[in-house]
Amino acid sequence: MISVAIDGPSGAGKSSLARRLAADLGYTYVDTGAMYRAIGLYTRRAGQNTKDAAAVEALLPRIHLDIRLQDGEQHILLNGEDVTRAVRAEDIGMAASDVSAHPAVRAFLLDTQRDLAASRNVLMDGRDIGTVVLPNATVKIYLTATPEARAARRRAELVAKGQDADFDTVLADIRQRDYQDTHRAVAPLRQAEDAVLVDTSDIGIEESFARLKQVVLSRI
Ligand code: DC
Repeated sequence: MISVAIDGPSGAGKSSLARRLAADLGYTYVDTGAMYRAIGLYTRRAGQNTKDAAAVEALLPRIHLDIRLQDGEQHILLNGEDVTRAVRAEDIGMAASDVSAHPAVRAFLLDTQRDLAASRNVLMDGRDIGTVVLPNATVKIYLTATPEARAARRRAELVAKGQDADFDTVLADIRQRDYQDTHRAVAPLRQAEDAVLVDTSDIGIEESFARLKQVVLSRI
């Protein structure tokens, strides 16, 4: 089986590039962020504090996640409800970052993620895919961009959706998530030693896509 691991901070264009590249290669796209987001969403709905490790851990036995792969697209079901769209809400990103710091949450998701890669060719994106989830991945990529470049793109996306977005607020949110994701004790975001670095700060989406594809094709 071929596995492509793409890690990097939020807003580097990972999920849209990864989804497109997976379709292009005919691999299944696995979005691990959506799994953390579903747990963040459940915790919020339960009225619990996402930063409270014991409170979140106590909820885990009540959470059943189903990952359905339809036409190479991932759907995520939380206790039977399709939350694929609901987990994309802006505030759920931070909730996901909070719950993802708890070791019990990471352990809860690890087997699901490994099982998905065991029986099919996958392109999996996240924060710890090349370092922890699939340390023997065929290809590892670390996709990043400066916080300013990521904030500018994120702001443009929000404005396009008709939402009010102030650049400094978006930048502060990105910096806070970067800090949380790189400083947690378990499986922090970092570039695997054998990952290829792709920095998209100064290149557009088409060039980013072409570079990613070239990296993958030269290694499989
Ligand atoms: O990629 P994303 O924005 O959907 O991820 C949401 C949060 O989930 C992110 O801030 C950190 C966490 N996450 C993680 O810790 N490990 C992963 N493999 C994927 C996401």
